[in-house]
Amino acid sequence: MEILVYGVDWLLRSVGLTTGQETFDVASEDQLIVTICGGGNGAHIMAGLAASRPGIEVRVLTLYRDEAEQWTTAMAEGNFSVFIKGGGIRGENVELTADPFTVSKDPREVIPGTHIIIFTVPAYCHEDYFKAIEPYIGPVSTIIGLPGVNGFEFQLRGILKEKSDLCTVIDFETLPWVSRIREYGRAVDLLATRETIDGAVHLPRKPSAFHHNHLASFQYMLGDNPELEIKGHLLAVTLMAPNAIAQPTIMYGQWRDWEGVPVEESPLFFHGVSTATVELLSHVSEEVVSISREIMAQSPKTDLSSVKHIYNWYLATFQNDILDKTNLMTALKTNKAYDGLRHPCLKTAEGKYMPNFQHRYLREDIPFGMAVVKGIADIVGVETPSMDKVLYWAQQSLGKEFVVNGRLVGRDVRETRAPQRYGLTSLREILKENVTN
Ligand code: NAI
Repeated sequence: MEILVYGVDWLLRSVGLTTGQETFDVASEDQLIVTICGGGNGAHIMAGLAASRPGIEVRVLTLYRDEAEQWTTAMAEGNFSVFIKGGGIRGENVELTADPFTVSKDPREVIPGTHIIIFTVPAYCHEDYFKAIEPYIGPVSTIIGLPGVNGFEFQLRGILKEKSDLCTVIDFETLPWVSRIREYGRAVDLLATRETIDGAVHLPRKPSAFHHNHLASFQYMLGDNPELEIKGHLLAVTLMAPNAIAQPTIMYGQWRDWEGVPVEESPLFFHGVSTATVELLSHVSEEVVSISREIMAQSPKTDLSSVKHIYNWYLATFQNDILDKTNLMTALKTNKAYDGLRHPCLKTAEGKYMPNFQHRYLREDIPFGMAVVKGIADIVGVETPSMDKVLYWAQQSLGKEFVVNGRLVGRDVRETRAPQRYGLTSLREILKENVTN
């Protein structure tokens, strides 16, 4: 097979077209091979969009239960479609039909020969996927976290070991879509797409044209939206992830004094925050910004300038949804995107509500979120008294031990994605010195 540089530029130059829904012929040996890891909403959208673009061969790896079989059986019965709400030129709904693709539970079937591997699966499943793909990934692969979520790059390095030195790693702060599977393996509704998503790239020591163009290829697969905004070091994505600090802090604010008595209704989550909770959230966010400043002071070449206070993040992310932008409190309470969101609760037999501390707001956002940030703070020597308050309460609620005496050294650090878990204990190690931004 002749080696070609895959990317929007190359694709467009070779066919004289622009990105979008147009079709053009690309010889089969020129296919860019993309494997999507996951079997949920995000994986359905990603697979559908990519498989509708000429020049892309899509494969899906889903390790979960019988999803691969279900998806394969469903596709054998007819086309796989993405229904895009308002996706037409005049705002009409659009049905995008994908070319057939392989879905497998066996990494041997899909990973060999893959150029781009996209993780679109909850963070607690990433470890299984990294272990599954490790034996089969090729020498010039790109791995994309969509989203990677805090500590994605540490886990990737910890499991792929020296193979990770040859990979491009791209991490994004969030999934770009709101979506819902209409019929498993057959149809998915794309309800909304973000206009932009922030991300960062880590290139290998000797990047080739392949590495540079994989990002362009990814944009091509997505279409015009979201626009990929790539800036700074991967660590900025890990530090900035807002879920890691907002969700556990709001849980703490609501339930820290709870005495175990069921409540009449589950409280509003973002709209129900108290002044004390918002103040704490602001302090936690200031600590994150302090960590990024300390890293940039110790390593001036490292660009973490995209790490900002969460108030500024809300303003930038929800500019059209926040009715009153006066301060963090009003930004949370008047954000239309948060209408109706309530605390995760379990209903009692009497119809009352108990907080659910096993919900992902703690079960994921601590080990794959705040604990990772805390681990970085320890490495660079930044004190985090506000974050510690949340961590002590959350670990007790989860029945875990992450922080002891203000340091991330508890027995359950091995269940987190903090750098310490992978033996990364210096700034030099977590930055990985061959970083090219
Ligand atoms: P999803 O909830 O649809 O993913 C479910 C899929 O995860 C399952 O179909 C299965 O393939 C896999 N899975 C679940 N438990 C598993 C297990 N124990 N072992 C192996 N695989 C398992 O997730 P979705 O919506 O596709 O989101 C992907 C990521 O994007 C998640 O990290 C989510 O937090 C994040 N995200 C999602 C947003 C959304 O609107 N859907 C918005 C922002 C972020």
